[in-house]
Amino acid sequence: PRLAVIVVAAGSGTRLQGGAPKAFVPLDRDSILRHSLRGVLAAPRAQVVVVVPDGFQDAARADVQAVSGDPGDGDGGDAVRVVVGGRTRQESVAAGLSALDADVDLVLVHDAARALTPVSVFERVIDALEGGAPAVIPAVPVVDTIKRVDENGVILAAVDRSELAAAQTPQGFRRDVLEAAVASADADHTDDAALVAAAGHDVVTVAGHADSFKITTAPDLDRARALVASRRP
Ligand code: CTP
Ligand code: MG
Repeated sequence: PRLAVIVVAAGSGTRLQGGAPKAFVPLDRDSILRHSLRGVLAAPRAQVVVVVPDGFQDAARADVQAVSGDPGDGDGGDAVRVVVGGRTRQESVAAGLSALDADVDLVLVHDAARALTPVSVFERVIDALEGGAPAVIPAVPVVDTIKRVDENGVILAAVDRSELAAAQTPQGFRRDVLEAAVASADADHTDDAALVAAAGHDVVTVAGHADSFKITTAPDLDRARALVASRRP
């Protein structure tokens, strides 16, 4: 089966306040997007679609080129395509889906903001998909003790931690399953697994990784920069 990876990088990064749309904030001499593309391109032979804010197409093409040598200009046969995203993550995923080649039948959706996701996580998701799962996400155990609270912050109930898992990306789907779920979406969902589950499909999990954390706030950016620095030989 033919695989595609949609990298959603069209968010503005309002919580990070990084001086640029989040994917274009540097970790070292390379941007968050450039780092996240290294993991993506380790999925061999996949079509790659990068979804960016309007005005950042050229910057994204430069990142793609630096990582792969592909200019991503959409000319015949390019393995990488750059498209403009939407107001919400879900709209950006839809924009990515509309850029897929006709022969693609398995789709991974990856947050550019998870810049340091190990290749092994991509491999686990792809293996589960190729093994026949229609929907699969990487997840990690929740370490904090979680409470359900009311609008005043008063605890309503304890939540059994053993029943909880934190969802990461790349999330993998059969293309027809994801497209149908996106087409029938009635609300905005924070991830694609929620959308597909709302459409009535079982979603399985594989092991995620601590390094696959999402860069959301300034301390997350510091952590990512430290990790990159520590990996440098
Ligand atoms: N994303 C996107 N299009 C949007 C919103 C988000 O492609 N309209 C992408 C982001 O670029 C990011 C991923 O979805 O890679 C996860 O979103 P999040 O971490 O919330 O990023 P932002 O929306 O950019 O950040 P914030 O919510 O703080 O503004
Ligand atoms: Mg957001």
